[in-house]
Amino acid sequence: MALKGKHIILGISGGIAAYKSAQLVRLLRKAGAEVQVVMTEGAQSFITPMTFQALSGREVRTTLLDPAAEAGMGHIELAKWADLILCAPATANLIASLAHGQAGDLLSTLCLASAAPIAVAPAMNQQMWHAFATQENMGILHRRGTLVWGPAEGEQACGDQGFGRMLEPDELFAQAVQHFVQSRLMLDKKIIITAGPTFESLDPVRFLGNRSSGKMGYALAQAFVDAGAKVILISGPTSLNVPSGLSLIKVESCLQMLQQVEQHLQGTDVFVGCAAVADYRAESISEQKIKKSDDQLVLTLVKNPDIIGKVATSENRPKLVVGFAAETQNVAAYALGKLQNKGLDLICANDVSSQDLGFGSDKNRILLISKQHPNGQDLGEANKRVLAKKVVAAIAVYLK
Ligand code: C5P
Repeated sequence: MALKGKHIILGISGGIAAYKSAQLVRLLRKAGAEVQVVMTEGAQSFITPMTFQALSGREVRTTLLDPAAEAGMGHIELAKWADLILCAPATANLIASLAHGQAGDLLSTLCLASAAPIAVAPAMNQQMWHAFATQENMGILHRRGTLVWGPAEGEQACGDQGFGRMLEPDELFAQAVQHFVQSRLMLDKKIIITAGPTFESLDPVRFLGNRSSGKMGYALAQAFVDAGAKVILISGPTSLNVPSGLSLIKVESCLQMLQQVEQHLQGTDVFVGCAAVADYRAESISEQKIKKSDDQLVLTLVKNPDIIGKVATSENRPKLVVGFAAETQNVAAYALGKLQNKGLDLICANDVSSQDLGFGSDKNRILLISKQHPNGQDLGEANKRVLAKKVVAAIAVYLK
């Protein structure tokens, strides 16, 4: 059902795994998708366009500057037609082209010209996969939000063993189904997310802040947008790129964040408090720059309001209130305490004791705690974008 009527461009580049894509076309078509196959020149050395034409029921597109094809559906029109561009197999060369925005042939041009999600199914020799250049290019694609399906590990056509095998057609099909299911999970739901640190002013030039990068909150915002939600992202200062398709409200302090949250709360389905809100602010903000004088400077701080706690007890309480808890020990127990004290429905607990997880890092590990699961569901350790999708899928279950 998820694929019925979906427009999929299946981009095939020149790898031996190209023959497996024939089976993928069959699976996608059987599930009701319309498939337009686009082949690179290299792909045609492995399998003929005729095979794909017969299976897809559409003439295969192979060249960018083809007057006859352009007279039908031009490449820009085709780029707009797509709901998903799936490049399978995606060779090291295609991945390099996509990473660097090259448009040297029809497939890479379509990827550049389309607003549709792009998925790549890498397929290459294990040495080529592990090469610095390929890994750097994959890093670029990851950061850009390109979907990466595979590769698998195992025996390769050249006789090598290792990573670089394209996923099997049924696995790629399952990923495509999952992608379209996920894209409707939060259809028309209103979501507010707080993200990043807060900066609490001391004087016109100084503030109290913290090391939150905002990456998890921004990844969640992107995942909610991708799941069809209307997202308001209320963010403290960060240097991150803003995901498209959402409303961004920039704030600095806890009080400004609270004011914006309260102003937009009505009609919200899910509130996610991902911001690392400062617990205290200066009792008074000096109007002039504080001068260096004595050996000691005593600052008087007062407690900030608990934004998420106020949301949870508000008369406009969203259906679900989801918090975050960064802990260095007894993660589940402390997080459960926060869930109860603050009146939350769910809490995403992170262990921030390790250097390469949590604050500032691209990776995280989340234990999802609720009344139903007081010991937590382990969503595992992964890139924040991948985890964000899992969090959205889990929230969707609680929203039912
Ligand atoms: O109490 P603690 O700061 O550990 O709780 C973390 C959770 O509470 C996060 O969801 C955070 O966004 C939220 N929070 C808040 N307002 C505060 C402090 C924390 O919304 N003043």
